[in-house]
Amino acid sequence: MPQSPLIAPSILSADFARLGEEANAVTGADWLHVDVMDAHFVPNLTLGLPVVQALRKATDIPLDCHLMIDDPDRWAIGYAEAGAYNVTVHVEAAADPVKIAKDLRAAGAKAGLSVKPGTPLEPYLDVLKHYDTLLVMSVEPGFGGQKFIAEVLSKVRLVREQITAGRLRLFLEIDGGITEDTIGQAAEAGVDVFVAGSAVYEADDPAAAVERLRELARAGMAAAHGHR
Ligand code: DX5
Ligand code: ZN
Repeated sequence: MPQSPLIAPSILSADFARLGEEANAVTGADWLHVDVMDAHFVPNLTLGLPVVQALRKATDIPLDCHLMIDDPDRWAIGYAEAGAYNVTVHVEAAADPVKIAKDLRAAGAKAGLSVKPGTPLEPYLDVLKHYDTLLVMSVEPGFGGQKFIAEVLSKVRLVREQITAGRLRLFLEIDGGITEDTIGQAAEAGVDVFVAGSAVYEADDPAAAVERLRELARAGMAAAHGHR
């Protein structure tokens, strides 16, 4: 586990008319989480490759692209070629997740795999050997500002055990409903990358919100070390 938790503000809750400024308002963010939705895999529609290409030029923060889209086998590679730091696809949408991971890495990006709250992880433990990031969804994907589903932490614990045992090596990221009230329990379960949309961008001072979340995550990680 990294010494320090990584915080990834989600621009889904930012002002889309001022995306460049909003990206750079979160000084101290480790990754900038970019939610791509196609109104097919999820009911909502957000942004796509041209916006990611523009954001890449507007900020130095590494882009963490979360593709909530059908047919990632066809579309994911474009985000890697656009310079995304990490490109995450949904296992429920991917026809050949191992090939996607190989293609993403060959294009110079980290490869991420995401699971919806109801998707079990056991069938994918071998597939995850090809990935750099696992994104555990803690809300149904599609919208910001939803309530955290604590049951998904059993998946986090399972994967943290695999990592500790040396069977997997990846970032363990969580997305949905992460706030000052929930980040501690996620950290304690073994998460090391925390996506937060509304908790950052609806705060009066987004940069300060990032630092507060990081401190709470750090405390959760320390508590976990105490009893692990
Ligand atoms: C939801 C998106 C999330 C969203 C999280 O489908 O994947 O990244 O921005 O928003 P909050 O942190 O407000 O739950
Ligand atoms: Zn997301």
